[in-house]
Amino acid sequence: MMEMEWQNEVKEETMVGPSFRVDTRRFSEKEYNKFVCLNPVRDWSMLNWKAVGRPYQVTTYAKEKKHWEMENGMDLPVHTSWELFNKSFHEWFIKDVPQELSDSKKALFKSLRTFRLPEAKALAGEYLRLHLWNYVHRIQDGIWDPRGKRALFEGLDVQKPRVLFLGAAEGYEAMQLGALYPGSEICLVDYDAYCRDTRFGEFPESYPFLGGSPATGGGKIYYKNDLHIEYVVDDIRSLPFGHEFDIVLSVGLLEHFPDELKSEVIDWHRKFLKPGGYVIMTTPRAQLRSKLYYEIMADIMNHTYRELMTIEQMGLYCYENGLDILRHGYIKVHNGIVAKVR
Ligand SMILES: C[S@@+](CC[C@H](N)C(=O)[O-])C[C@H]1O[C@@H](n2cnc3c(N)ncnc32)[C@H](O)[C@@H]1O
Repeated sequence: MMEMEWQNEVKEETMVGPSFRVDTRRFSEKEYNKFVCLNPVRDWSMLNWKAVGRPYQVTTYAKEKKHWEMENGMDLPVHTSWELFNKSFHEWFIKDVPQELSDSKKALFKSLRTFRLPEAKALAGEYLRLHLWNYVHRIQDGIWDPRGKRALFEGLDVQKPRVLFLGAAEGYEAMQLGALYPGSEICLVDYDAYCRDTRFGEFPESYPFLGGSPATGGGKIYYKNDLHIEYVVDDIRSLPFGHEFDIVLSVGLLEHFPDELKSEVIDWHRKFLKPGGYVIMTTPRAQLRSKLYYEIMADIMNHTYRELMTIEQMGLYCYENGLDILRHGYIKVHNGIVAKVR
């Protein structure tokens, strides 16, 4: 993955490298609503499942899952499904996308010229996936979406918070919180050791997170190595912590559990919060373009159960399971909720 040169002082800039975009642009009060659509629901007590419908289930799975199940004669265990997913997803984050697009185009034309049609079909699929990834991640910055996440996470009443990230993968959102709330003590938890060693371990040290400076009250850029981060490889269900965190966060976790397990997942957040602490959760949006994305990227993304939901559906799960929703809304590709225990 490319390491980009970036200055220490706050430069409000964006630039696109071979694998990803960096973006330290701020937004004015007026622009805020461009990056987050906030609080469309006035009163959660007025919503019900009949009105909001159930989440959309993604049912096109990765070939790797099907192969594993054929070879082993059993369903892919959930833990293994995450190991396969994390490895597969990480390989896309580190691609030199322009180079791969060019190589993929050449290979596609060569197979067309020589009438190797089944090969051309596979190469066309790869070329399409590369284009989609280029647009969604490298150009639009839809996955990391720093401006959207800052808009969603800002303004919490915390000082030097202890932050727990459940199912942390590479830990991006906790690092963004760490920049917004200087002095944060971050604990990343994932039961796939590859996330600690590779997804987080190889997260680019030069990636700038825009946050606040306690010294000047203005902005400051933070890098991964400026933050206080501990990585715990463990099952969320066996963590030894009590009610000790100011913020408990998850990103893309709730939608991987069917309805009968959602209360338990929401409880995982509540269980580790100090009284008055914040739950922050995000899940992918059920918009048409996301449905298409998960269809086209099925081989890379879909090793395990997955739903796409609306903010109304996500909020109703939280509301029904004892959370008081303080802020809710959606950013480019995710819904987000900031809540406290009721
Ligand atoms: C969909 S990922 C989170 C999305 C993430 N932002 C990404 O880019 O991949 C969910 C993560 O939760 C982890 N996870 C799922 N169940 C877990 C559990 N019971 N204990 C610990 N980690 C878990 C998986 O290993 C995976 O890395």
